[in-house]
Amino acid sequence: MEAGGHQGGFRNDPADDAPGAVLGLLSLVALVRETVQIPIIAAGGLMRGSQIAAVLAAGAAAGQLGTAFLVCPESGANGLHKAAMTDPLFGRTELTRAFSGRPARGLVNRFIRDHGPYAPAVYPQLHHLTSGLRKAAAKEGDPQGMALWAGQGHRLARELPAARMVETLAVELSAAGSAYGLQAPRGVVS
Ligand SMILES: Cc1cc2nc3c(=O)[nH]c(=O)nc-3n(C[C@H](O)[C@H](O)[C@H](O)COP(=O)(O)O)c2cc1C
Repeated sequence: MEAGGHQGGFRNDPADDAPGAVLGLLSLVALVRETVQIPIIAAGGLMRGSQIAAVLAAGAAAGQLGTAFLVCPESGANGLHKAAMTDPLFGRTELTRAFSGRPARGLVNRFIRDHGPYAPAVYPQLHHLTSGLRKAAAKEGDPQGMALWAGQGHRLARELPAARMVETLAVELSAAGSAYGLQAPRGVVS
């Protein structure tokens, strides 16, 4: 539930949007670990190596990071989107159907506040319906009308080149593993 962008499923029942209906990452990894034996790649809210260590300890084979790489110079995200990640104006994220009809997590802005409460569960029709509005907002330089996809850890974003980011995460992961006496981590960072 912490992850930025669209969720993997196509949940069509708005009752499934209730805060208590979606599992947090550590609970989810532990539950899946006890159910199936295939390798688990954990994603959602991971911004630091210490968090990757936590999901590896919980039984994941790897951690996957999205929002952490969004602000890298190599990322093709819109500059307004990148700047919004650590802008105090956008204090928190929300799961919303406002932009596409499918639940997706983004920084709370005017578009989400105005249209989230009544957005219907109709994907991809709503995506196509709002596409022009989102493009116009980007053209006007108005982040309040754009889809600012972001995970819950967005405030921890670091503007580092991607290779440096991977190195930094690896050092943090290793340090966290040593601190807690974990075995050498097998984590892959993508
Ligand atoms: C800007 C952005 C765009 C994304 N686009 C997609 C996408 O097109 N398809 C998809 O399956 N996941 C997409 N995701 C979700 C990521 O694959 C990943 O699950 C997520 O970023 C992990 O959570 P984190 O952002 O908190 O690290 C996107 C995430 C972000 C932040």
